[in-house]
Amino acid sequence: MSARTAIVTGGGSGIGAALVRALVAEGAHVVVADVDLPAAEALVAGLTGPGTAVARAVDVTSAAAVQDAVDAVVAAHGRLDLMFNNAGITFLGNTEDLTLDQWNAIIDVNVRGVVHGVHAAYPQMIRQRAGHIVNTASMGGLMAAGLMTSYVTTKHAVVGMSLALRTEAAAHGVGVTAVCPAAVDTPILDKGEIGRFKGRDFYLEGQGIKEPVDPDLLARRVLAAVAANRPIVIEPRQARIAWRIGRLAPGLVNRMATRFVAQQRAGVLDPPTA
Ligand SMILES: NC(=O)c1ccc[n+]([C@@H]2O[C@H](COP(=O)([O-])OP(=O)(O)OC[C@H]3O[C@@H](n4cnc5c(N)ncnc54)[C@H](O)[C@@H]3O)[C@@H](O)[C@H]2O)c1
Repeated sequence: MSARTAIVTGGGSGIGAALVRALVAEGAHVVVADVDLPAAEALVAGLTGPGTAVARAVDVTSAAAVQDAVDAVVAAHGRLDLMFNNAGITFLGNTEDLTLDQWNAIIDVNVRGVVHGVHAAYPQMIRQRAGHIVNTASMGGLMAAGLMTSYVTTKHAVVGMSLALRTEAAAHGVGVTAVCPAAVDTPILDKGEIGRFKGRDFYLEGQGIKEPVDPDLLARRVLAAVAANRPIVIEPRQARIAWRIGRLAPGLVNRMATRFVAQQRAGVLDPPTA
């Protein structure tokens, strides 16, 4: 079989970069699609094969840019096997402090960005009667954690979209997988902080996780899930346990989350002493 072709949005950093490394290691041709072109280029420069990778400036909030990336892969290779809709942003803080521009930005990247990837790649995969769409959601797409309400809103949309589309896509020979990790060791843990919240501490404490997940380990698990055509990937194990408890006892988990929000506010929202 010829090498697989793939697009990874947000491929220049973190989970996306790990997916690129794993795909290139298995011999795939990969487009590293990122709004941060220098980051994508730096990643590509450090890859050694056996697959190939090219960096491409793609802002997933632009449907045309995502469509162009898909069209370019199909023009060059005749097919697109794997579409990773992975680019994402986050905000951490009290919802009343979020501007409407921030709400719109997170919806544009995390929801519309995935919609654009599905809209561009899915018809091509239907024509091929093969392919797999992988949408990076989050544990925030399965459970509702406060102080990241905008993020949770978008990631629930991505989980719902992925699981619903999967039931349509099966008849076309196309797979869909939602990736739902808890804290992964990437730069996003320190981004989007509003006020005095500290992302890395918040994400680890909130999910009772001592060490964030290694992105390269996650990427290998994701490719294994694609090979097995699994609907959902949850990492690490504590997150899978938390998800199961949440399904059995949603009221309990909601009370625990409410208490955690109060603790976080008490810890970080005291007036600065200086
Ligand atoms: N790291 C975690 O703890 C964690 C947990 C669950 C889910 N996720 C999700 O994983 C995905 C990847 O996040 P990460 O942790 O690797 O973060 P990251 O910040 O390291 O990487 C995100 C990448 O997306 C790119 N990007 C942002 N906006 C874009 C846009 N408009 N168009 C194209 N690219 C854009 C950034 O330039 C960056 O390279 C996100 O969807 C995130 O929500 C992360």
